[in-house]
Amino acid sequence: MKDAEVILKAAEIIRRGGIVAFPTETVYGLGANGYDPLAVARVFEVKRRPSFDPLILHVADPSDVEKLVKEIPSDAKKLIERFWPGPLTVVLLKEENVPDIVTAGLPSIAVRMPDHPMALSLIKESRCPIAAPSANPFGYLSPTEAEHVREQLGDQVDLILDGGPCPVGVESTIVSFSEDKPRLLRPGGISLEEIETIIGKVEISPIEDRPSAPGMLSRHYAPRTPIVLDWSEKSLDSYKGRRIGLLAFREPDKSLNCNHIEILSKKGDLREAAASLFAAIRRLDALSLDLILVETVPEVGLGRAIMDRLRRASGLIF
Ligand code: TXA
Ligand code: MG
Repeated sequence: MKDAEVILKAAEIIRRGGIVAFPTETVYGLGANGYDPLAVARVFEVKRRPSFDPLILHVADPSDVEKLVKEIPSDAKKLIERFWPGPLTVVLLKEENVPDIVTAGLPSIAVRMPDHPMALSLIKESRCPIAAPSANPFGYLSPTEAEHVREQLGDQVDLILDGGPCPVGVESTIVSFSEDKPRLLRPGGISLEEIETIIGKVEISPIEDRPSAPGMLSRHYAPRTPIVLDWSEKSLDSYKGRRIGLLAFREPDKSLNCNHIEILSKKGDLREAAASLFAAIRRLDALSLDLILVETVPEVGLGRAIMDRLRRASGLIF
C-alpha cells in the first residue's frame, strides 16, 4: 500500500476508536481520538501508564488549539508562531470539551503541532486532535523507529505507520502557561536558549518539584542494563572482567578497552547526538552487558534534553 492509503486506513482506525502508532519529528507516538475517553483509556492500558500521567493532544493547525483551551496568553502565541510545527508543547488551561482522562484530571492541557508529514496527514484525515504519549511501555526509552514500536507493542496496536527514523530524536520541549509565569517542564527538541530569545526568562522547575509533569519520574527513559554517567579510561579498567558498553558523545581519539562502543556523533554535534540517542541505547541494551558507561555532553542547546534523559535513564533523578 502507498503511504497515502495507509494513512487513510490509520485515520479510519482512529475515528472508530482504535489506536495507531505514528512517526513525529521527535519520537513515535501512540495515538487515539482525543475526544474519545474509551480509546484514550486503551492507550493507557497498552502502555501500562499510570492514569495520573496526562497526555499531549496533537493538532494539525495552530488554529485547532482555540477550541481546546480557555485562552492563549501572548507569550504562548509567540512561541506557537515561531516554533510550530515543531518539537514544542505548550500547556494551557483547558476547555470543558477535553475529556478528563486526557489531562489526568488536571485543569490544563498539553498541545503541540508536530513537524512530520505523516503525523499531520493522520491528524487531518482523522478530523480530531490525537492524544498520544510516546509509543513505549511506561518507563522505557521512547521509540525513534517503527521497528522499536513493533518490538515492544506490536501485537497490541491496531496499526503502526512507518515514517523511518525520527529526525530530532528527543521528545518535545514542554512549556507551561498554566500559572502566572511561563515554566519549562521538560527540556526537549527546542532549546531553552531559543525559547528565551522569543519570550525572555522562563522559570525552570527544579527536578524534584514537578508534580505537574508526572511523567518525569525516576528511572524514566530507562533501559534494562544499568547506566552510569561519566567514564574515564581508569574507570573502564576498574571494571575488568565485566561486560562494558560505552555510549560516547564523540569519536574517542584512541581505542578503548570495552566490549562495545556506540558513538552518538563522530564530530560531537548535539543535534546529531540527540537524533541517535535512544536507538544507540537500545542497541547497547540488547547486548546483555553488565553496565553501560556514558560520556556526558555539554549542557547547552539540545545537550540539556540529552542530559535530562541520560540522568533519568541512569536513575540519578528521583
Ligand atoms: O515529543 C513528544 O512530546 C512526544 C511525541 C509523541 O509528541 N510525546 C511525548 O509524550 O513525549 P509523553 O506522554 O511521553 O510525555 C508527555 C509529558 C509527560 O511527562 C506528561 O506528564 C506531560 O507531558 N504533560 C502532559 N500534559 C500535561 C499537563 N497538562 N501539565 C503538565 N504536564 C503535562
Ligand atoms: Mg514518554
